[in-house]
Amino acid sequence: MIQNIIFDFDSTFITEKSINIIIKSAIRRLKDKDERTKALARLNELNSRIMDGKRLIGDALSSVIKLAPLMINDVEQAAGKMSKYLRPQVREIISDLLTRGKNIIVFSLGVDKLVVPLAQSLGIPRNNVFTNNFRLNKNGQVTGFDEENPLFSNIGKLYLAEKLSKSGRLAGDTAIVGDSLSDLSICKNKIGDIFVYFSGSTVWEDIRRQADFSVERFDRLLPLFCSDDELSHDRAGALVSVDEQEIKKPSILLLENVHTRAREKLIAAGYDVRLEKDAWDTAQLCLQNEINVLGIRSRTKISRQVLEEMSNLWIIGAFCIGTNQIDLTAATEAGIPVFNAPYANTRSVAELVVGEVIMLMRRTFEKSSAAHQGKWLKSAHGAREIRGKTVGIIGYGRIGSQVSVLLENMGMSVIYFDIVDKLPLGNAKSAANLEDILKNADIITLHVPDTPVTQGLIGKRELALMKDGICLINASRGKVVDLDALRRAMDSGHVAGAALDVFPEEPAHSEDIFHTPMQGASNVILTPHIGGSTLEAQENIAEYISSKFEKFISTGSTIGSVNLPEMELPRIQGTHRILHIHHNVPGVLAKINSVFARRSINVEGQILQTKGSIGYLIVDVDQDIADQVLNLVKAVTETIKVRKII
Ligand code: NAI
Repeated sequence: MIQNIIFDFDSTFITEKSINIIIKSAIRRLKDKDERTKALARLNELNSRIMDGKRLIGDALSSVIKLAPLMINDVEQAAGKMSKYLRPQVREIISDLLTRGKNIIVFSLGVDKLVVPLAQSLGIPRNNVFTNNFRLNKNGQVTGFDEENPLFSNIGKLYLAEKLSKSGRLAGDTAIVGDSLSDLSICKNKIGDIFVYFSGSTVWEDIRRQADFSVERFDRLLPLFCSDDELSHDRAGALVSVDEQEIKKPSILLLENVHTRAREKLIAAGYDVRLEKDAWDTAQLCLQNEINVLGIRSRTKISRQVLEEMSNLWIIGAFCIGTNQIDLTAATEAGIPVFNAPYANTRSVAELVVGEVIMLMRRTFEKSSAAHQGKWLKSAHGAREIRGKTVGIIGYGRIGSQVSVLLENMGMSVIYFDIVDKLPLGNAKSAANLEDILKNADIITLHVPDTPVTQGLIGKRELALMKDGICLINASRGKVVDLDALRRAMDSGHVAGAALDVFPEEPAHSEDIFHTPMQGASNVILTPHIGGSTLEAQENIAEYISSKFEKFISTGSTIGSVNLPEMELPRIQGTHRILHIHHNVPGVLAKINSVFARRSINVEGQILQTKGSIGYLIVDVDQDIADQVLNLVKAVTETIKVRKII
């Protein structure tokens, strides 16, 4: 357990750097406004240089106090007001740590007159407080620093820590709490055992990234330095607060009138669910900070801004096929798994295609349209049965292979072509190449994805290779067929019929006017991309996504997620589970396991997977994790999201 804690004083104990407090009031006294503005800008610049180690600390400090004339009176007056800069909880937490016998040491680049009285008022012994000192002239004006003081140099904190260590004043493990390179260097040089980045003010990400833990509040420090036993029985427990979001039942928001099956299922699983009819805009979404689970369809846009505002979001379900409406990069960076339902409507598409095969071969739409106009086209001309005919399927994936089974059962011969070796179902035969299909099929149906290769897959040349009287169905992607070429082939009589559900340009809204060169051609079925739009498909989607929600909430399973590593770990009775999503850098697992090991918490099961910049860890431990330990895991620097499954 940690015995010594070296605190950086400026920006950690207090909200400002102590030197800044006095120099800012001196700058405010400057008469010229331009001079004041310039001095403040220069101060900011010098502060950054001190933090990132790009400049000699002594030089920077000397430059700071030259920004405006500074008198000893200024320092004395500021000293009396220093406590108003103290961060919340510092007094309570330091007092608590001291009561537990922790050795608290303070390093400050500020000066003794500002720092020592405040540190002593917190109960820290005088000889544990190390600061710089001013030099004054006989008029009481600050002229510079005592340049012999170790803290005037970049390696001052390291030098002092080493000295304390050598003299035996750092017996036991030592933690460093701060936010600068000079704080980090104490750990890098093995004097400190852990470096805790305190991110209460500006975050210096380069430094934070190298810390073992990163906390933004003082109460988060206690579990790092005290055992659970110490924390459980006394007032310290009250000092450590836990985010309510981490322990309460998830709240679920479903938008765009997703099928009620999802709501029923999630309510039956014991969750609170709100179902809304409309798509929501960014402003509405940004107010939903308490939502943990969000279900949308294609009209609700999830931008980076939405994800930043909805900071308690665990998971997003797209109750549709595509995920273009979601900023997937931002979701991944926020550790939010996104799910969609790419296969829930496979059967619906296959059924539409089967229906169209018959409708085209019988020229039904042509006759139906004529009947609507009072014409009676009772004729067998061009009308054929499908039995005994050959259907050519291009793309033998989920939809293509279902179409194959259904049409074979209706008496058709099936030949198919796929760029990947696919096992034939039933009596279907794999064609040697695309031309083989084009030349031998009586009706061709396309089920390929939209790729650079499939764009324009069926053009003038391919149409010419097809049998006279061919019928063509496209319910895959609009760009797969060259519609101008198809129209010409139909007008010439070479192609007898076509059914098109997808188009290169599709209207975004139902009130937009739709144009295609196929309009007005005889025996052509045009449908507005409704291949997958059935009530059953919507219900399947609802069933599928809500089960993804349930599994992620109750087990952390990400199987089927489009952006996070896909993982599942069966639950073992009697264990407790933590989900940890983090930046994928070496050493995260070791840090988390050391948190458990130090508390004798046994890891019963663990699985870690990474995908690009993200790592996902599921850990089962043998005992209920105290909230303090959860906070500790959360404080691991690389952490993006942590959740305990109760
Ligand atoms: P899938 O991924 O299961 O199957 C596609 C198959 O096409 C794969 O076997 C693949 O190897 C093959 N393929 C890829 N490039 C090829 C090429 N150049 N030549 C021959 N084969 C090739 O996809 P699924 O679920 O069967 O969907 C197929 C198409 O249907 C997709 O374009 C999808 O967007 C579309 N779709 C349309 C819907 C609608 O409402 N009309 C609804 C659902 C899907």
